[in-house]
Amino acid sequence: MSTQDNAKRLAAEAAIAYVKPGTIVGVGTGSTVNYFIDALAALKQDIEGAVSSSEASTARLKSHGIPVYDLNGAGDIDVYVDGADEINRHLQMIKGGGGALTREKIVAAVAKTFVCIADTSKEVDMLGTFPLPVEVIPMARSYVAREIVKLGGDPVYREGVTTDNGNIILDVYNLHIDEPIALEGKLNQITGVVTNGLFAARGADVALLSDGQQVITRT
Ligand code: A5P
Repeated sequence: MSTQDNAKRLAAEAAIAYVKPGTIVGVGTGSTVNYFIDALAALKQDIEGAVSSSEASTARLKSHGIPVYDLNGAGDIDVYVDGADEINRHLQMIKGGGGALTREKIVAAVAKTFVCIADTSKEVDMLGTFPLPVEVIPMARSYVAREIVKLGGDPVYREGVTTDNGNIILDVYNLHIDEPIALEGKLNQITGVVTNGLFAARGADVALLSDGQQVITRT
C-alpha cells in the first residue's frame, strides 16, 4: 500500500471513534471513504445502518451487509464522514472530484457532525488549486458556463460524466477563492446550478488528517 493510501486508511479508521452505537451513519464518497466503509463493516452489528451519498458508496455498503436507508425516512443523522479534495484551516472544503457533491452536501446538511477524513496532501492555505466542481442541469450548461466566466472562472465540461442525479459537471479553474462562503452563494444563485463543490457555509466540524504515520485532529 502506498504512503498516501495508508494515510487515507488511518484517517478513515480514526473516524470510527465518532460513530455512536444504534445510529444511522452518514457516508460520503471516494477512495478515503471506501476505507471508512470497510472499517464500518466490523461494527455493522452495533449500528442501525447508513445513509449514502452515492450509488458507488451504496454498493460498497451493501456488499458488506450494511443496511442503507433513504435519507427521507432516516430521521436524525448524528455523524457524516466524508473525504475532501481540498481543506483549509477553517475546515472549509472543495469536494466533488468524484462527482457526488450534491448528495454529499445534502447528507452533510442533515448531519449533526461532519467528520472530514483525508491525507495531509489535501490541506491548503487557500482553496482553489483543485478545480471547483459544479453540478448543472444539462440544458443550462452553456448559460452557466458563461455566467461562471463572468465570475472569473474557467469552466471545463467533464466529458462523459453524468451524475447520480442525471446532471453534468463543470470543473472550474482559476477561481480566486478568498471568500469561500460568498462564492458558494454566488454560484448557487446561477439558474441551472444544482450545487457547487464549495463546502464553506457548512464546512466540517472535525478534520482527521493523516500523513501515513499519525492522525492529526483539527476542529
Ligand atoms: C466525491 O464526490 C468527492 O467529494 C470526494 O469526497 C473527494 O473527492 C475525496 O475523494 P478521495 O477520498 O478519493 O480523495
